[in-house]
Parts: sequence; structure tokens; C-alpha cells
Amino acid sequence: MIRVRTFPTSDAVARALAAEIARSLKANPHLILGLPTGRTPIPLYRELVRLHASGRADFGRATTFNLDEFLGIASSDPRSYRAFMRRHLFDRVNLRRRRIHFLNGAAIDSRAECARYERAIARAGGIDLQILGLGRNGHIGFNEPGRVLTADTHRVRLTATTRRANASLFGNRAREVPGEALSMGIGTILRARKIVLVATGANKGRAVLRTLCGTLTTRWPASFLQVHGNVEAWLDRAAASRLSAVL
Ligand code: GLP
Repeated sequence: MIRVRTFPTSDAVARALAAEIARSLKANPHLILGLPTGRTPIPLYRELVRLHASGRADFGRATTFNLDEFLGIASSDPRSYRAFMRRHLFDRVNLRRRRIHFLNGAAIDSRAECARYERAIARAGGIDLQILGLGRNGHIGFNEPGRVLTADTHRVRLTATTRRANASLFGNRAREVPGEALSMGIGTILRARKIVLVATGANKGRAVLRTLCGTLTTRWPASFLQVHGNVEAWLDRAAASRLSAVL
């Protein structure tokens, strides 16, 4: 059962979740965070930066693992997810560089790179709190709908929908978005001790309903979150609008 928390606006979601992360950091300074990219977490990162600037969020001993990265894009490339994270969070809080973990999309051997990432997560002791966005087609990380899903970190082919959704990083040209990526697998995500799925805006309403109340199917990867014992969905009113009939 996925617990639902609803807030009036996306800013209210961001403020409350940033405050919760700051509290978790206080309780456990060695917190291991799993982090997403996309438009949804931008207000959250802005709030975390604000809390850090006012001395209320200390990342000095925390560790982060990002969910995914485009294949063939170097971390120094401004279009990479790593660069996105640098702009929105990493360069603006006191995270130690050596405790920031990312998949290297430019690795020559992608299979070895994925195995390295799984080992790094295991060596760190596993993810305490995984924050997730939600693709409108039900993807989490870059686990796309399909006949099968992969448990561990792996190389994925991106759907046309997902490439379009990511076009803003590539001058709004979907054709320029790489056709493949590296992503944590569904198993990697489900091994996190706690998961917070964040969805905001009316255009996520249908995806939220299907994720929380739909049948478990590889055609909707986020539906597998229902089997985890500690998942919360943090929604604004618009994203939660379709739930009112079922909750
Ligand atoms: C990308 C990311 C996902 C993210 C999704 C939703 O495809 N790989 O991790 O959840 O976009 O993005 P947005 O928050 O912009 O709707």
C-alpha cells in the first residue's frame, strides 16, 4: 500500500519534502540519498539549497546516488544529468565530491559501469531514502514500459515519449536526445529502505492513479512500487485529483 500525502501546490510539496530531508539528515548525518532529475524535483532542490544556506540542512557527511544518465554523454557535458544536478544542487550545498555517485554515460564498457554502480551502492550500505519522479508513461528512473523489466542497473533504450520529455536539455530537439541511457533497475530502486515518489501537476494525474491503484505490470514499471513496504507518494492537489474517487 502506497501512502499518499497531498499538498495544495507543488511549492508546498517541495517545502515539506525538503524539511523532511533536512530532518533525516539531522537524525542520520550519513544519510544515503537516491536522487532523480526532471522538472519535478527542481523546486525540491531549490528548497534544499535555501535550507542549506540558512544553516538548516547539512550535507557534509551525506552520500548521493543518482538514478540514471544518458548514454554517450560525458559528465562534463552541460546536457548530462550530472551537469543538471551540479546546477540545481551539487554546486550549491556542502556535499563532498567523493560521496556524489553517478553513472558514467560515456563509459566504454557500459555493462562494467552498471556493475560498478551496483557494487558502489551495496558498499555504501544501500540507499536510505530514494526520491523518485514519475514518467507520464509510468517509467521510474529510465525503466521504460515493456515486455520485461530488468532488476539491476542496466543499459536501456528510451521510448519516443521519454526522449520528447527530456528534449529541454537538448535545445528542445527530441532527435538530439540520446536513444539510450544507463539506469538503476527496478530491483535497485526497490532495495531502498524508503521511497518517496513525487508527482505534481494535472498532467501526472492519470499516471499517479495507475501507479497507486493499477495492476502490477511491466507495461507500467512504477506499479511495482506497490510491493515495497515503505513508499509514500507526495502529490500536489492537481496530481492527486483523480485519486479522490478511489481513496
Ligand atoms: C526523466 C527521468 C526520470 C523522471 C522523469 C519525469 O525521464 N529519467 O527519472 O522521473 O523524467 O520527468 P519530469 O519530472 O520532468 O516530469
